[in-house]
Amino acid sequence: MAKLKSADDIQMMRAAGRLAAETLRHVGAFVKAGISTEEINTIVHDYIVAHGAYPSPLNYRGFPKSVCTSINDVICHGIPNPDVKLNDGDIINIDVTVTLDGYFGDTSRTFYVGENISEERRLVTETSSESLARAMAVCSHGVRVGDIGHAIQSYAEARGCTVVRDFVGHGIGKIFHEEPAITHYGRPGTGVKLVRGMCFTIEPMINGGDWRSKMLKDGWTAVTPDGKPSAQFEHTIALIGDGIEVLTALPDDPIAHRARELGAKILWPELT
Ligand code: MF3
Ligand code: CO
Ligand code: CO
Repeated sequence: MAKLKSADDIQMMRAAGRLAAETLRHVGAFVKAGISTEEINTIVHDYIVAHGAYPSPLNYRGFPKSVCTSINDVICHGIPNPDVKLNDGDIINIDVTVTLDGYFGDTSRTFYVGENISEERRLVTETSSESLARAMAVCSHGVRVGDIGHAIQSYAEARGCTVVRDFVGHGIGKIFHEEPAITHYGRPGTGVKLVRGMCFTIEPMINGGDWRSKMLKDGWTAVTPDGKPSAQFEHTIALIGDGIEVLTALPDDPIAHRARELGAKILWPELT
């Protein structure tokens, strides 16, 4: 059963979530053709450490780097590498997780490298961000995991995309990945009931073709089986009162604003 967070826990989660969001914004300014994913790793690592926190991926179950960098057909958990440089027209997901004073904040987004992005890459990227906003809009006390999954799956499939099943969102707190699993597919009214005091991530991975994933020999990098693109956005959310706080949204976060437009009850006071 998922652990419920106290008001004090959630105060700590706010600080961790905000630092993760600020790190992602900071590194985003460096996303340009020619930069290597190793350089992105260094930027993320140094920023997190300079702010008194730890880059959670580093040595997590043997992961060798401080951030995940997933380009084009990489679904998730791409490993930064000095030999991999961004090219004009690429899409890259940068997934930042920090541990601050023992609490985790986890957020990611897909960036466009330059303006020359193919229709297929734009489609998965926009479908992922919109599906996350739609999922946030159905979140409140009493919602079921299947309601969240359905909001994502029905939208993504209507757009001709598919939903990854091999990786899911997760409860989060003093543990990086805890219960409940947040599947990004499902049927309304089914699955675990989510209640106020829970903190979890929603992080839909949306593929342009086959929904399945293939693991590379490094044991981490998950790619699409058909080479088609995949995109992902992620927020850490707390169920509070009759709505949600988006712990990893800065005040100008476009997905949180879109979710509010769609009816999300977002209680984060700084989100104006
Ligand atoms: N940040 C990822 C998530 O959203 C997990 C990365 S685990 C790592 O859950 F070891 F690959 F870093
Ligand atoms: Co996560
Ligand atoms: Co993440």
